[in-house]
Amino acid sequence: SIPVIAIDGPSASGKGTVAQLVAQRLGYHYLDSGALYRIVALAGKQASIAWNDEAALAAMAAGLKIRFENGEILLDGQIVSEAVRSEDMSRGASEVAVHPGVRRALLDLQHDFRQAPGLVADGRDMGSVVFPDAQAKVFLTASAAVRAERRYKQLIGKGNHANLAQILADIESRDARDMQRSAAPLRQCEDAILLDTSELTIDQAVETVLQHASK
Ligand code: CDP
Repeated sequence: SIPVIAIDGPSASGKGTVAQLVAQRLGYHYLDSGALYRIVALAGKQASIAWNDEAALAAMAAGLKIRFENGEILLDGQIVSEAVRSEDMSRGASEVAVHPGVRRALLDLQHDFRQAPGLVADGRDMGSVVFPDAQAKVFLTASAAVRAERRYKQLIGKGNHANLAQILADIESRDARDMQRSAAPLRQCEDAILLDTSELTIDQAVETVLQHASK
């Protein structure tokens, strides 16, 4: 079957960056599953559907027209790459992601990304639920302090205002929601390797994943 490298882990662990570089090196496709939950939050807001309205969100999610093209995210043909990255949608994504109906509605869409020659899938439940037969599974993490620092630098680098203590508090509350929910809670799979990037450069993390995937 078509190979999948599943990379799961908490917020701001560097998963996205590492997963995209691994995909590039192998010439594989890349799935940013978090973007799908962000889009559900955004589309819900646009349609005035509350983030706790599971039935309405699930019905909407199943019919979303989502495309990833040239590094942009499109919803109904409109570029939403920036809009889904806002702090509001970060919170919204983690709120809509607790609903089993929403998660189920996004399954087919995620499976469609499994195309030759292979896929690198980034998220919270890639190894546990979406691609349980993945050839390589990585649980990529870093301490909350390091993750908050990275997010802070990212925001400052883009010319935004940022408050480190606030970012740390947001990260910790999203971690708690991701780990404590009953539907696909964030956890390390038994067959995943643990990769703590607190003390690693991006290149070192990429090399470690590539080595693991080649075994
Ligand atoms: O960029 P960051 O890691 O902060 O977030 P993300 O990967 O874009 O995911 C946003 C939210 O979607 C997370 O906080 C999770 O609650 C949820 N999510 C999920 O439940 N399952 C996934 N496979 C991916 C994301």
